[in-house]
Amino acid sequence: MQISVIGSGYVGLVAGACLAEAGHDVVCLDKDSSRIATLKSGQVPFYEPNLDRLISANSQEGRLRFTTDTREAVRFGDAIFICVGTPPRESGEADLSAIDNVARQIALAAETPKLVIEKSTVPAHTGQHLKRALALYGRNGHGMFRVASNPEFLREGTAVGDFFHPDRIVLGVDDKASEQQLREIYRPILQGQFRCPVHTVSCPERKTPSVVVTSITGAELVKHASNSFLALKISYANLLADYCEQLGADVADVCLAVGMDPRIGPDFLRPGLGFGGYCLPKDLKAFMRLGERAGINVGLLREVDLVNKNRIDVFMQKVRQTLWVVQNKQVGVLGLAFKAETDDIRFSPALEVVRRLRAEGARVTAYDPQAMERTQEVFPDVEYARDPHEVARDAEALLILTPWKEFRELNWKRIANLMTRRLIIDGRNLLVPSTMRQLDFEIYSVGRPDLGAPLDPEQHSEVSVLASGPREAAA
Ligand code: UDX
Repeated sequence: MQISVIGSGYVGLVAGACLAEAGHDVVCLDKDSSRIATLKSGQVPFYEPNLDRLISANSQEGRLRFTTDTREAVRFGDAIFICVGTPPRESGEADLSAIDNVARQIALAAETPKLVIEKSTVPAHTGQHLKRALALYGRNGHGMFRVASNPEFLREGTAVGDFFHPDRIVLGVDDKASEQQLREIYRPILQGQFRCPVHTVSCPERKTPSVVVTSITGAELVKHASNSFLALKISYANLLADYCEQLGADVADVCLAVGMDPRIGPDFLRPGLGFGGYCLPKDLKAFMRLGERAGINVGLLREVDLVNKNRIDVFMQKVRQTLWVVQNKQVGVLGLAFKAETDDIRFSPALEVVRRLRAEGARVTAYDPQAMERTQEVFPDVEYARDPHEVARDAEALLILTPWKEFRELNWKRIANLMTRRLIIDGRNLLVPSTMRQLDFEIYSVGRPDLGAPLDPEQHSEVSVLASGPREAAA
């Protein structure tokens, strides 16, 4: 099928490249000409595992093209995916002006019937407005456009795998023809007729995804409801961490046992610095505003947001308690991205911690495997280390702010020798406290017993920092 993707940001690029990989002919449009030039030159403007390979292979094979020409893009596709940004307004509501703009462009340029599919995250009823806008701006009369909603559930860092192995595909449609067309688009994935681009040798995840067919409004709600529920789970785990800290228990054990109930499930019960990134915080707020406008009591969602905001205060309190005076202290920061396996720093809790440390006068040296370049634009005068071990040089505390796996595997003995004070504040519960304690570190984490006092040096032994076992599974 010929498919156009409007908006070559994170969602659009992943969808476009994966649809091409699945066998369709795809044109991706963006109004940002430098972004399109980057893509045409074979580079990807952000870090996402496997995406660069997919883009270059499909571009070379002629199934994937990039353009800034709206008319060309609109005319090419039988189906047009709208993947433009819906950033938050001051009030938290989603700004839908880019969607409105695209509707106008599609309506004016289209010469043949189109299925217009919302993939951007939008509040309920956007599809109805979109339908109206397409009919209003269009020159070619009614019946030219059908509208559908097909929300994406991709996670940054694993987006390509998620696209090919979705848990579910949600089709929000008002008519049978749109459903058929969407099923045709996803046929390779529904029937397993693709070469898994992530697990090239043998794919362990091959499964038939469920398809949920619902109304357009239903599909729009699914997306906001899913992200808000994930946010709720994380805030619940963070609340449990507070209970554990106050009452003396290990949140890893509690979350592990709670998550073993299949009605609850083990995922998204990791406490820490709270949720960040471009989706969960913004979607939760937009869902709240939508509910408020509809006259619904959204107190539950408001609390989720409040618990999350409070995580940084709780963390900074630990920093103050352990460092005593923050002013002029040399602090090493490991991790800047909002989560591991991405260079995305939007709404990253790590950046908020860095901002507060600097506001309190700390001298910060930071390292992140992928996100330093982007962070440099926000904090040009923070010192950035090329090597994660260097972050520790002369530091009086080391803060773990993003759970990159590679941080577990650092040479912690070397780090211990580089630091002025062997103090770790682990905002992501990444390290195993008892192991770090054996290396003579004081370690403070989230919802776990603090191991502050150093051990008797006689008891030190060679240990691996890599852990296994039940605690690790939950933390
Ligand atoms: C999210 C949704 O998971 C995805 O389905 C949707 O399409 C886009 O939004 P993403 O933003 O990539 O994906 O990140 P996600 O993996 O959901 O993590 C969001 C935030 O929650 C991160 O800051 C992460 O560190 C945090 N998190 C996640 C926790 O603090 N604890 C957890 O247990 C899980």
